[in-house]
Amino acid sequence: MLRLLHISDLHFGPPYLDRVGEALLRLAPELRPDVVVVSGDLTQRARREQFEAARSFLDRLPPVPRVVVPGNHDVPLYRVAERVMNPLGLYREYISHEINAIARVDGAVFVALDSTCPRQAISNGRIFRSQLEFCARAFEGAPPDAARIVVAHHHFAPAPDFERNQVMPKAKRAMNAFVELGVDMILGGHLHRAYIGNSLDIYPGNHRDRGIIIVQCGTTTSRRGRAREREKNSFNMIMVGNQVVHISHYMYFEEGDGFQPVSRHFFPRPGRLCLEQPEEPR
Ligand SMILES: [Fe+2]
Repeated sequence: MLRLLHISDLHFGPPYLDRVGEALLRLAPELRPDVVVVSGDLTQRARREQFEAARSFLDRLPPVPRVVVPGNHDVPLYRVAERVMNPLGLYREYISHEINAIARVDGAVFVALDSTCPRQAISNGRIFRSQLEFCARAFEGAPPDAARIVVAHHHFAPAPDFERNQVMPKAKRAMNAFVELGVDMILGGHLHRAYIGNSLDIYPGNHRDRGIIIVQCGTTTSRRGRAREREKNSFNMIMVGNQVVHISHYMYFEEGDGFQPVSRHFFPRPGRLCLEQPEEPR
């Protein structure tokens, strides 16, 4: 099984909670991740010192491959010239040169998409047609057993609560493309609360025999949690097998100063028969 540690919305800057961040750093090695996924908003205001802090935090996590995407908070909001001319300059300098990226590991192909859109949106995002074409090229020739995983900061399906967070314009176009490309799972953040489900819960689409597993992560280390995770912090531990995906949603508890699993989710890989018994995550 491939083990993914999925964290998000770290928000280095005033909202960052040092005690919670340290709890994650203590636990992370025990979780034995093969890959760490960070689905955006590493900083609160895209300041140099915030990126520096985010970089040193990432460097303290287990030394395994990283899949990282920027969030809308990783582009300057008030430094207008920078926002227009070089919105992801500091992100590239400290976090990753690549903005849309492909990562191949044993058992999975990841496509990381930059969903920020600093010239057209303040906090909402966009996925352009050229990025869907990038996905198609990335998955071309992928080994048949490799899980196809898309990572983007902004959500393609809303959380199933009453907060009414709008999805990106043309989110359905992207979802349809992902289904056609055989994407198994989409990992995201932005909502500051976890939602673990299936795209068919929200959007039946064209192929109702195989939805996409949706894994939204809450804010792992900031005080900006919303809705059911207001004032809460969470992350996901995802285990990808040949036939099944097993996801544990962890939440931080002050009592005990640590993260504990609060729900577990078990899905057949889209389009596969579920013959494998799930392994316990820890
Ligand atoms: Fe955020």
